[in-house]
Amino acid sequence: MRATAPLCLLLSVIARVHAFVPGADGPVSNLEAIEGDSATLLCDASTDAGDELMLLVWYKNNAPIFSYDARIETAWSNPSYDTSARLKPELLQQPTSITISDLTERDQALYHCRVDFLVAPTRNIGVNLTVIVLPSEPFFLDELGNKVKDKIGPYHDGDTLVLSCLVIGGRPPPRISWYSGHTLVDASDGVSDIPSVRENELYLPLTRDNAESLTCKASNTHLRPPIESSLHIELYLPAYNVSIYWVEGTVGDVLQAGKPALVKCTANGAYPQPDLAWWLDHRHLTQQSNQSWSNATHTSVSLLQLTPAVSDNGATLACVATNPAMAPSRGSKADVITLNVTYSPIVEVSRVGDGNPNELVELDSLHLECEVKANPPVEKFTWYFNDNQITSGSIWGDEVHSQKLFVEEATRRNAGRYSCAAGNTVGETRAEAINITVHYPPECAERGVVLIRETIKCNVRSLPTPDTYFWHVQPSGSEVQHLTTGSPLLTLAQITGPLTGTLKATCEASNGVASQDQPCVRIFSLEQLRPPQPRQCDLAFEHDEFHIRCMPVDNATYYELSVWRMSPSNSSLVLERRGSMGFGARRALAQGGSPEGAVPGGGVWLVRGALGTLRPADEAGAAACNRYGCSEPLLLRPTENLLLAASPPWWHFVMDKDVGISLGAVVLVCVFLISTALVVRLARRPRHKQPAPVIQVLQLDDVTRGYIDNITENKVRASCSLRSCSSGYSDGSAPTLDDAAPAPAPLIDRRRKPLLTDHCWDAPPPDVTLTLHRESAV
Ligand SMILES: *[C@@H]1O[C@H](CO)[C@@H](O)[C@H](O)[C@H]1NC(C)=O
Ligand SMILES: *[C@@H]1O[C@H](CO)[C@@H](O)[C@H](O)[C@H]1NC(C)=O
Ligand SMILES: *[C@@H]1O[C@H](CO)[C@@H](O)[C@H](O)[C@H]1NC(C)=O
Ligand SMILES: *[C@@H]1O[C@H](CO)[C@@H](O)[C@H](O)[C@H]1NC(C)=O
Ligand SMILES: *[C@@H]1O[C@H](CO)[C@@H](O)[C@H](O)[C@H]1NC(C)=O
Ligand SMILES: *[C@@H]1O[C@H](CO)[C@@H](O)[C@H](O)[C@H]1NC(C)=O
Ligand SMILES: *[C@@H]1O[C@H](CO)[C@@H](O)[C@H](O)[C@H]1NC(C)=O
Ligand SMILES: *[C@@H]1O[C@H](CO)[C@@H](O)[C@H](O)[C@H]1NC(C)=O
Repeated sequence: MRATAPLCLLLSVIARVHAFVPGADGPVSNLEAIEGDSATLLCDASTDAGDELMLLVWYKNNAPIFSYDARIETAWSNPSYDTSARLKPELLQQPTSITISDLTERDQALYHCRVDFLVAPTRNIGVNLTVIVLPSEPFFLDELGNKVKDKIGPYHDGDTLVLSCLVIGGRPPPRISWYSGHTLVDASDGVSDIPSVRENELYLPLTRDNAESLTCKASNTHLRPPIESSLHIELYLPAYNVSIYWVEGTVGDVLQAGKPALVKCTANGAYPQPDLAWWLDHRHLTQQSNQSWSNATHTSVSLLQLTPAVSDNGATLACVATNPAMAPSRGSKADVITLNVTYSPIVEVSRVGDGNPNELVELDSLHLECEVKANPPVEKFTWYFNDNQITSGSIWGDEVHSQKLFVEEATRRNAGRYSCAAGNTVGETRAEAINITVHYPPECAERGVVLIRETIKCNVRSLPTPDTYFWHVQPSGSEVQHLTTGSPLLTLAQITGPLTGTLKATCEASNGVASQDQPCVRIFSLEQLRPPQPRQCDLAFEHDEFHIRCMPVDNATYYELSVWRMSPSNSSLVLERRGSMGFGARRALAQGGSPEGAVPGGGVWLVRGALGTLRPADEAGAAACNRYGCSEPLLLRPTENLLLAASPPWWHFVMDKDVGISLGAVVLVCVFLISTALVVRLARRPRHKQPAPVIQVLQLDDVTRGYIDNITENKVRASCSLRSCSSGYSDGSAPTLDDAAPAPAPLIDRRRKPLLTDHCWDAPPPDVTLTLHRESAV
């Protein structure tokens, strides 16, 4: 109740105040505050020195709502206004203030304060308070008026988005704007059909950039940030950026053949997840790739394990990102790189030039090239000849480390295996060797023409081996014969005419490269081809005739028999008869295995020839002959025994004639007498049994030789029965090899002649006496 007096005073004061006129009564400031917040109204109540504050009053629209009486230090507030203690004065600081909290729309008004001083005039200060009511959160309606929340779509790139953003309420009316990111895209808001609703309808062609974050913002004060709502727009997009990177297995983007590498493809900005496909030179690599997708960043990654081959050098590797939700023409994007695949060189040797690549003719040039494929390029070439590295100098010149090898005039020494090696930073490879053959014309080799048995061989060196041989053969005393063979052999059978002397053979070969420069020539003596002298012969008397019988010798085609008669006048042997035993070995043969057996050497074929009659001191000869002439004859002299056997005893006639029984008695007497005489005779010749044919064996084996040595007294008229030993022996008509020799050698008295020469026998030869002891009945 005590407060009644000041209150009445105050009311009286207030009542006296006239309405505040902005500008005229005092300055006015504008103040904005948001509904529900608080607003602080300021009033300067400072005094000059010596002056004093008396009274401070706040008015809302000229109605007092608060006062402070400094004289009695009493504050008052209008209870109709200051509900629930909304007013909070602050009077101790300058400027003084009152703070109104829990602002409502109704608090919007023109406020002013009036300050009364003791001395100074009254001061009025105006504050125009605006209370702002925030609008509702923006929301979205699509073309059809359906509410859209959080997400809309899907759309394709370039589609036009039609979308309304609506806001309810707000004072002052809010501005509604569309933003893409921080960019204002549409500010054309307006009043909606619905009361107190504002809207902004957006027409936006969608792009990758503007669809990413689309926001609708509503704002009616700068005191608060705009109220905004955003919407996720699902927009199908192709990748905008596809990139290939090497991850592993490369050195600065350079691959190595055969070495696995890992390559990565990244596709950015595609939605939904794209398919990443790898292509190597238009070949789809379906395997080994590995794709992952990050929804947040719209990044797709594919890893590919690639083992490049040499052929992949220069190939293009493409990574194609295709958006399965879009047409392929719009939804694809690719990155392409070119592979740089390094590898150890691939090398091959080849000959440059015409004709067969591996053959050339002597004195041609040899030009080899090392064909190489390499990445990086070859740094060094090395050549090999027969696996030995070719060094500069000598026949190879100085250019031995270049890609080409050049020999100006190749000789056969240059034939062989050639290879080259090429090296780069990756490695060195050696080519497979090629064989170079150097052909050259035939030339005589190894004594040229040689005689082997009955074949002449032409020895020539040449490459290739000759295919034709031209022969010019001339037997002594005949015309030259021209022959051609396909092999280096010419058999003597191909030569016509006799070949008893020498043979001049010339051969020339041809191998298709060039003809032989110098023919090969040689003169042969064909004497060596004559058969050997018969060694095993004997004389026999059979069928009233002397026969000579010999063991056949090799290679004899016929035998020549001769009978030599001792001339009574000048004690020399003179040819009595001569003749062939047959032509062809077969015809000269007779089977020796006769029933009598005991032929030396067993049942073999014997050469047998009739001689007719022989006298003491005659000699019979047998020579083996063939195309190349005859051997030296073997001469045999019949033994006394044989001669005796050849002349039958006188009574033989009687026996043979079978004279008759009438002479029986006489005969008996005679027989008795004769037998007596025979006994005496047989006593001297104990081994004589029959007048049957006697064989004189002249086979000289060790037994006989030993025997001969022991019976020196029997070598009475010993002669060399093996006539070959007495080289000087001549019958004056035997063919001599040397036609140029002067006169025939003189006939030689065999009885005085040295019987043997050293190279023939080391003991005296056997004679008739020998044969006596070896004779045997046939
Ligand atoms: C106070 O502010 C309102 C708008 O906020 C305005 O319309 C009014 O004229 C102002 N009054 C004065 C006196 O300035
Ligand atoms: C692709 O995108 C990446 C990341 O966005 C970027 O670093 C690169 O430069 C882009 N490449 C191209 C060719 O645009
Ligand atoms: C492919 O992905 C699987 C699992 O994501 C991983 O184990 C494998 O190593 C990947 N392959 C390649 C070649 O990266
Ligand atoms: C990818 O992200 C979008 C939003 O960014 C989401 O709607 C969708 O479900 C996600 N998909 C997957 C597979 O995570
Ligand atoms: C490939 O790489 C090699 C080695 O680095 C280089 O010498 C060569 O020039 C490259 N080739 C190409 C076509 O880039
Ligand atoms: C080269 O010659 C050698 C023997 O000299 C032979 O073994 C090899 O097979 C030949 N190679 C060719 C390709 O002719
Ligand atoms: C003689 O003939 C034999 C075999 O019949 C043979 O081996 C030999 O070489 C020939 N001799 C001659 C000089 O022809
Ligand atoms: C030896 O006598 C024969 C005739 O009996 C005769 O032909 C020959 O010429 C004579 N020889 C010599 C050397 O007188």
